[in-house]
Amino acid sequence: MGLRIVLALAGTLILFTCTKKTPPSELAESTGVPVKEYAEKYRPQLHFSPPAHWMNDPNGLVYLDGEYHLFYQYYPEDIIWGPMHWGHAVTKDLVHWINLPIALAPDSLGMIFSGSAVVDKTNTSGFGSAENPPMVAMFTYHNASREKLGTDDHETQGLAYSIDKGRTWTKYEHNPVIGNHGMKDFRDPKMFWHEASKQWIVTIVAGDHAQFHGSKDLKSWKKLGEFGQGYGSHDGVWECPDLFPLTIAGEKKQKWILIVNINPGGPNGGSGTQYFIGDFDGKKFTTDQKKTKVSWIDYGPDNYAGITWSGAPNGRTLLIGWMSNWSYAQQVPTSTWRSANTVARELKLVRLNGELVVASEVVPEFETAGSLGKVMSKSVTDSLEIVNDFSTGIIKGSIEAKDWEIKLSNQKHERVVIGFEALKNRFYIDRSASGDTNFSKVFAVRSYAPRISKSKSISFSMVVDVSSVEIFFDEGVTVMTSIFFPDTVMSKVSLVPKASPLQADSISVERISSIW
Ligand code: FRU
Repeated sequence: MGLRIVLALAGTLILFTCTKKTPPSELAESTGVPVKEYAEKYRPQLHFSPPAHWMNDPNGLVYLDGEYHLFYQYYPEDIIWGPMHWGHAVTKDLVHWINLPIALAPDSLGMIFSGSAVVDKTNTSGFGSAENPPMVAMFTYHNASREKLGTDDHETQGLAYSIDKGRTWTKYEHNPVIGNHGMKDFRDPKMFWHEASKQWIVTIVAGDHAQFHGSKDLKSWKKLGEFGQGYGSHDGVWECPDLFPLTIAGEKKQKWILIVNINPGGPNGGSGTQYFIGDFDGKKFTTDQKKTKVSWIDYGPDNYAGITWSGAPNGRTLLIGWMSNWSYAQQVPTSTWRSANTVARELKLVRLNGELVVASEVVPEFETAGSLGKVMSKSVTDSLEIVNDFSTGIIKGSIEAKDWEIKLSNQKHERVVIGFEALKNRFYIDRSASGDTNFSKVFAVRSYAPRISKSKSISFSMVVDVSSVEIFFDEGVTVMTSIFFPDTVMSKVSLVPKASPLQADSISVERISSIW
């Protein structure tokens, strides 16, 4: 379990238990990357970031033979966005990563923008064989020369395949497989096999809507339907869609979830990930939701372009996002690399107060990979120091739904404050005094998220890394992700009650050692 705190401002009872876990050994050897490459200032220790240079969206998330593949938008020559490649890494446990060589590089048809990958198990494409089914990726070709001509046909969809578990890739000789007849933004194909209609489906965004195309062989595609005009948020361009079924927790009924990333127009400015809940009949996505309803996977400023893994074992729906925001991604003060991803999250569909909500939580694998250090706790006057020698890990617990703050701070008095306001029924993350915030005018802010659950106490799980925090409130019903750039790690965690008395239960602090 962890540390159980029953806190009343007048009198305090503190009980705690710790379970020691063995830290994973020889991490550097297992990743093949010398530890020193992951030791720079601000470098995440619990999250994937590229060994060097610029990264944005996760791409081609696909599972094959014990490996979860991560491809990602990558510019291998600088720490700002440039001609896009697909970088590549794999993980066996969703926690530790092995960096692999670049998978796809630009060619005469264009840069390699975002897309997806599938394992073509029955070799419908003919790119492999029945014995050795191919991995097939579809990505957007972004042709910068045509873009300059202003013809609005510069984004087309191309294929590449691998018959050696994603290690080397061959581009399809008849690319592009889906052309463009004048849609300025037509990109980010996400594919899946639709068993009911026995065909491959790809969702592609086209500015203000998503299109669904179908194929029997991954090579020849036919447009089936579209969704989106007038629905949800349209304060920016629609990007990086995903369409997948989820079974409602505790029920047999299945619904389809359509994820649509949007930039700008996110819940706290800049980029964000909205979703729709509805049905998919093999051609069309429909929803009963009001057109004006907007739901967000994550209300924090720093989770964008998230998509789910194709073929994850045990029917799990696992998502990973890019932990940044286009409002300042290219200005953040890192040195040799830029951007990290969120932790892998498992998505669930839950019914709450009569409404369906997509909840996300950290994959449990994450906790088994770490070690638990000693937990410190001092007397309570108006503030409780939970631990003063923390660095990276998970803080969990449950606190009454009254006003409170949890403060992460360091010796330089830099801080990130996570709080709840009962009257307004909302959470916040305040990073205005979190360290270096000068690189952008919009960074030093307090971001808000509505509380959706109505239960009397708020459960939370908080993944704290060197330069990020991800908070999953109420079993992941409200999620907030935020990056920050402190001079030294946030070593102190305290609970600041703003109402008296306040009850906090089962607070546990688990230090997790570096995954690198
Ligand atoms: C989203 C995005 C995608 C595009 C890629 C280019 O962040 O703009 O729509 O494919 O990044 O790097």
